Amino acid sequence: MKIGIEKISFFTPPFYIEMKHLAQARDVDPAKYTIGIGQDQMAVSPVHYDAVALAINAGISLDLTAADKAEIDTIILATESGVDHSKSGSTWIHRALGIQPHARAIEMKQACYSATAAIRLAMGHISLHPDKKVLVIASDIANYGIHTPGEPTQGAGAVAMLLSSDAKIMAFDTQSVPYTVEISDFWRPLYSDTPFVDGKYSNQAYVETFQGAWNGYKALTGRVATDFDALLFHVPYTKMGKKTLQSLAATGDLTDETLSTFTAIYDEAVIYNRRVGNLYTGSLYLSLISFLEQAEAARAGARIGMFSYGSGAVGEFFAGELMPNFETYLQKERHEQLLDHRFLLDIPTYEMVLSERIAVDEAGNWLADTSLGRPGQVVLEKISAHKRYYKMI
Ligand code: HMG
Repeated sequence: MKIGIEKISFFTPPFYIEMKHLAQARDVDPAKYTIGIGQDQMAVSPVHYDAVALAINAGISLDLTAADKAEIDTIILATESGVDHSKSGSTWIHRALGIQPHARAIEMKQACYSATAAIRLAMGHISLHPDKKVLVIASDIANYGIHTPGEPTQGAGAVAMLLSSDAKIMAFDTQSVPYTVEISDFWRPLYSDTPFVDGKYSNQAYVETFQGAWNGYKALTGRVATDFDALLFHVPYTKMGKKTLQSLAATGDLTDETLSTFTAIYDEAVIYNRRVGNLYTGSLYLSLISFLEQAEAARAGARIGMFSYGSGAVGEFFAGELMPNFETYLQKERHEQLLDHRFLLDIPTYEMVLSERIAVDEAGNWLADTSLGRPGQVVLEKISAHKRYYKMI
């Protein structure tokens, strides 16, 4: 029995901006964004592409079979962009994907980390019930607001994973090490649409949490960095993973030579992230997809080390092994087309889209302009008497 990823795919909304245009509008040297931050483009999500709609589209792109839908007994939406304090986004996913009724549907939260928690819980569940499958979808919209320091590190998208005891792409090791410390580096109180963030401190907290999890992992397993063929990270912006690799060189875990090898592999593992930006819960897993589909080091039998981080803060270091013929289960062409066929927004339009908020009338009604989007994609159609309705356009 190999518990892990049987199918994996992502979705990002069909709108984006070029970082060099944003730099021009903010009177910043474009190299700060493209090299200093490490982002080329940024996904932009209008209100009708909310986190649930993004998640449904990611779920659709898994091409679940009738057998998958009958075997999925748990759906977990990992998000910090939830649309309701009570009802989980997974209930809409359950309906839209036509999953059998005897399934549990829940939502999980711990900043960008919760998809990893969902995977670890799914592994325990599948080991008890090897005939069942778990659908984990990580979906978020990173919106810091215009003219903020976090603005160049926004983004949006969702990653969907079908986990089972028949891991066709990656089998996860049972050993992993989490690390929790209560801090306020990035947080979004219930009364705020946008997060509060202490940017420099969040970078430091990320690296310290990584070191905490990594040292625990080394002590538990006896493994060293060079036992891995690639090291992947949560990617709030692509420079962050490089900073973390450099921290391994500073502690003597990597030499100059192995640092440059891991950095070159990491560069291929963030090709998609450079074009999407931060998708919070999905960022590490978008990097995994980029690695699987774009990196030369991705080959059967490769051992991949992964670090998940969620502000507040929880991190976890864990690992997986690529399965024989894993590449036949990927969707490289579909993903490249998704990124290549987006609408480019100018900066004034992006600012308008980002500032838009859903405003229901007194009866709790609101109607989306669903002409803005791509046919075949699912969007939030309307809110009627405070109830949300999604439809395919
Ligand atoms: P900033 O103050 O705008 O940027 O904040 P900076 O002045 O620190 O510059 C950034 C980098 O660009 C620096 O490189 C500069 O040297 C370089 P570094 O020293 O970091 O290697 N630079 C240039 N490079 C080339 N040419 C130039 C040039 N100018 C400067 N001309 C910051 C940047 C990321 C802090 C900000 O955007 C921010 O606050 N972002 C949001 C917070 C964030 O993403 N934190 C990451 C860690 S926390 C995390 O990952 C969790 C999170 O995903 C949330 C969750 O868990 O839910 C955020």
